[in-house]
Amino acid sequence: MAEGHIVPHKLSIPELTVLKDDWVKAGKRAIEAGFDVLEIHNAHGYLMHQFLSPISNTRHDGYGGDLKGRMRFPLEVAEALRETWPDDKPVFVRVSAVDGLEGGWTMDDTVVYAKELKARGIDVIDCSSGGLFGSATAARVKRSWGFQVPYAERVRSEVGIKTMAVGLIIDPLFAEDILQKEKADLIAIAREALVNPCWPQMAEIALGRKPIDAMDDWPVQYGWWLKHRERTLEQIRADETAARQN
Ligand SMILES: Cc1cc2nc3c(=O)[nH]c(=O)nc-3n(C[C@H](O)[C@H](O)[C@H](O)COP(=O)(O)O)c2cc1C
Repeated sequence: MAEGHIVPHKLSIPELTVLKDDWVKAGKRAIEAGFDVLEIHNAHGYLMHQFLSPISNTRHDGYGGDLKGRMRFPLEVAEALRETWPDDKPVFVRVSAVDGLEGGWTMDDTVVYAKELKARGIDVIDCSSGGLFGSATAARVKRSWGFQVPYAERVRSEVGIKTMAVGLIIDPLFAEDILQKEKADLIAIAREALVNPCWPQMAEIALGRKPIDAMDDWPVQYGWWLKHRERTLEQIRADETAARQN
């Protein structure tokens, strides 16, 4: 336990029942709000992750101890939410595939857990990592392009469930390669979408699915301007090439 942090109390069985009920209520609100996908957060040191990891779960009752005991509450919640959520809409579970800490949750545990989630009708495993200890952004796992893709790939191949890859996937060609090589079924883009909110449109152009000046489906206020700038740029580049050749 890090200095200055609150020590959580051990949840009683009635408290677990209330929490499960709260999750179901949240699921119902999400239906009313019209969401298409429900993702249950089991990663990054949040409560479900605390149940799963042997580092944080020190219970000795049926909700702790061995892997089966530690998975029990998160699986009960997943089951309750899958029952709540419409059959024709998917439920994702975001996991920290590894804690990245000595004696913590491992990829082998994630594979076992994903099999249990699949058996309960969960549709997609969203493979992140870390977050159980220290700063949320502390690099427990070495960062590189798509550093968490191998987790999505292993879960996908060993469990036969759809996976989502996330983390430092920036280049559309790299994202497409992950899908084409069947390492994951979905790609999540977070920070790059903040840097470039038009990433999906740019990706379509980069992948050759749309011509360079296909800005008709961009926000109309500036799509028109960008389309015309592209044509101007094309003309300037052509003039420059011609000038170099003369
Ligand atoms: C502003 C911001 C808020 C985030 N909030 C959450 C969060 O509440 N829960 C979560 O699991 N991840 C959260 N993340 C992490 C992202 O979901 C994602 O896993 C992470 O940024 C790595 O993907 P990226 O390299 O594409 O950004 C957040 C990221 C950003 C940039």
